[in-house]
Amino acid sequence: MVNYPKPILPVNPILSWASFGNDRVKTIPSVLEAGTHCFLTSGRMSIAMALKLIGIRSGDKVLVPAYHCSSMVEPILWAGADCMFYRLHPEASADLDDIKRKLDSKTRVLMVTHYFGFPQQSRLLREFCDSHQLLLLEDCAHAFFGRQDGLPLGSYGDYAIASAMKFFPVFDGGCLISSRHSLDQIRLEPASAVFQLKAVMDSLERAFAHRSSRLARFFFKLPLHLKRQIWSNIKAHSQGGITVTSYTPPASEGGFGFDTAWLDKAMSLYSKWVMQGTSQKRIIEQRRKNFLRLLDALGTLPHCRPLHTALPDTVVPYVFPLWVEKPEIVFPELKRKRVPILRWDFLADRIDATLCPVSSDMALKLFQFPCHQELKPEELEWMITQIRDTLLQQ
Ligand SMILES: Cc1ncc(COP(=O)(O)O)c(C=O)c1O
Repeated sequence: MVNYPKPILPVNPILSWASFGNDRVKTIPSVLEAGTHCFLTSGRMSIAMALKLIGIRSGDKVLVPAYHCSSMVEPILWAGADCMFYRLHPEASADLDDIKRKLDSKTRVLMVTHYFGFPQQSRLLREFCDSHQLLLLEDCAHAFFGRQDGLPLGSYGDYAIASAMKFFPVFDGGCLISSRHSLDQIRLEPASAVFQLKAVMDSLERAFAHRSSRLARFFFKLPLHLKRQIWSNIKAHSQGGITVTSYTPPASEGGFGFDTAWLDKAMSLYSKWVMQGTSQKRIIEQRRKNFLRLLDALGTLPHCRPLHTALPDTVVPYVFPLWVEKPEIVFPELKRKRVPILRWDFLADRIDATLCPVSSDMALKLFQFPCHQELKPEELEWMITQIRDTLLQQ
């Protein structure tokens, strides 16, 4: 694996004073409005909890989109089910004909992902599930906000899941939502005090790493130094099966791993507090504005094309996805320039062009650029310049 330098700009939102605001009026609902909900530590734990409630057993089959990250797949494998990967159309919508071909008597769940915040045809998929006795699991990890057919995104699924870290400046957080089933039987307990403290300190640390005034740096230097000392001591003295992930969920460290120890743990108190205090209106407006700026600046460049050429009024984007023609040159070049990019170039072994030509292409050529609310206009312009210069050189 190549070790590229760290990106200059944060891939996910970081804490700032501007994050906070109690403006409750927002134009687009959140997934939490789709039904009753509970707060876990990550999206993947929420998927695992949904599968547990459904009662998935060894030998059951779950239909999963061929374009995925491993944190979508790990909970299914943990539940003992087989992943049946289905095809996508070029704009990343689920291929219903392929789903039909993959169905058999063991298939219990259809998982659909609203990639990058853009909804799948949920009503159609709901009807399909009803007529084939399947449960629908809506993966809203990229779509914390959104409306479809006048309903909050996540309303059609038997269960929906969301990932808080992608939209809020928090260390941990996942949500399980259901408009159809009770979540009363879920019993979550608070994770350790170390975790609660780490949720606060890491969030501050991430914010400081990217931007902070001299004064703030002065005041927080000592507490952050102490935190690093304590943390390295904890790691050094961890023995007998206690690992770093015993204290923090893999999702919070940016990895795709899965650790069942976090299944019955509640979101940290700090992350809940930040989520409640964050201005959702600002998240929605800034993300939409940044996406539109990226679309305007990059939409007609040569050697690339945006996955979505318009932003419907009801969509709140997670990232700006761009197809790039020469990924083998452009990706390392942008990484070297420290441009923040995400790419899912590590699909399950079975997925090649025969299984799903679109997914295997997307894995290499689809670059995801951040458009989150904490990017400043000058930062966005810097990112655009780097992308534009790199593409124009091809
Ligand atoms: C589409 C999708 N679903 C689920 C997940 C899992 O979310 P989390 O990282 O909060 O566990 C991710 C994470 O990247 C994702 O991109």
